[in-house]
Amino acid sequence: MTETKPRLLSGMQPSAESLHLGNYIGALLSWKALQETHDAFFFLADLHAITVPQDPAELRANTRRTMAQYIAAGIDPSKSTLFVQSHVPAHAELAWILNTLTGFGEAARMTQFKDKAAKQGQDAASVGLFTYPILQAGDILLYQAVDVPVGEDQRQHIELTRDLAARFNSRFGDTFTVPKPYILKDTAKIYDLQNPTSKMSKSAESASGVVWLLDEPKVTEKKIMRAVTDTDGEVRFDRDTKPGLANLLTIFAILANRSVDSVVEEFAGGGYGTFKKALAEVVVGTVAPIRERTLELLDDPAELDRILAVNADRAAVVAEATLAQVYDRVGLLPRRR
Ligand code: AMP
Ligand code: TRP
Repeated sequence: MTETKPRLLSGMQPSAESLHLGNYIGALLSWKALQETHDAFFFLADLHAITVPQDPAELRANTRRTMAQYIAAGIDPSKSTLFVQSHVPAHAELAWILNTLTGFGEAARMTQFKDKAAKQGQDAASVGLFTYPILQAGDILLYQAVDVPVGEDQRQHIELTRDLAARFNSRFGDTFTVPKPYILKDTAKIYDLQNPTSKMSKSAESASGVVWLLDEPKVTEKKIMRAVTDTDGEVRFDRDTKPGLANLLTIFAILANRSVDSVVEEFAGGGYGTFKKALAEVVVGTVAPIRERTLELLDDPAELDRILAVNADRAAVVAEATLAQVYDRVGLLPRRR
């Protein structure tokens, strides 16, 4: 964590009991690499999670479990600053200031809001869901992050963040770093094992298409062996006509740190069964240690709490310095102590 590394920030919502292989490959693997080259801040967006109804006990448990999985998957809380969003009140405070700078129409154009609101029914959607992207802008700007690694679906929120940063800077003087989107590659997109044209997702219809990091090894193996393929029986990579196999080949190549071509070459002569068996070994070899480490961490909640407290303190120092400057620039009267 030297001062010269570029500042990076990313977050995920704690909205499932377990992360899945898509989260691991699409997000955690790159976070793990990026923490070596960046001064990285990673957080669990629990304030974002409550923009749709959550069960309180479940939310709390999922936040702990997801944190344990981050650490188990290799996000190192002594290299990166790994924290829970609500532990740093400056997130909500900066979001309020940014709310006052965001146009109603500007917020109404956010496509993710429109999609989510349509799903809930316009009238059921909360104002919190409407201002979700503004809270996200606050997350990023508080830390003066330069790089924000996210999936393509978050691009519009990063654009909004850039607009708000530039607007604030021009109205009140240079305060915020204008961040860059750092769009994670589509090649790291993992599909559902039973339905290989849809993304592997926590909201999948059937659990058998999703490899959860907390699945027991036997269950993982079964899911891989039963993954949907095709009937031509030939091991080759074709995303259009053989999406199931293409997905399995992608998973193998990424987890074994090999090229898809070399994997195809190795298994081209054999049937799907042989390939799947080898793949199951590779996946279990990755996931089982993460599961074991997660369970160990969850077994010692006091230690996990200690790690989160130290990390939240580290985050708060940076966040509070930015917020103090913002309050001053905006003209809020300082409170005397
Ligand atoms: P979500 O679980 O949708 O909140 O996503 C959390 C993070 O995991 C985001 O960075 C996503 O881009 C990534 N992610 C989720 N599902 C997949 C998937 N099937 N393949 C690759 N990345 C994914
Ligand atoms: N909206 C992001 C998602 O759903 C999560 C998120 C919240 C985030 N705040 C952020 C991502 C700040 C990057 C930076 O994936």
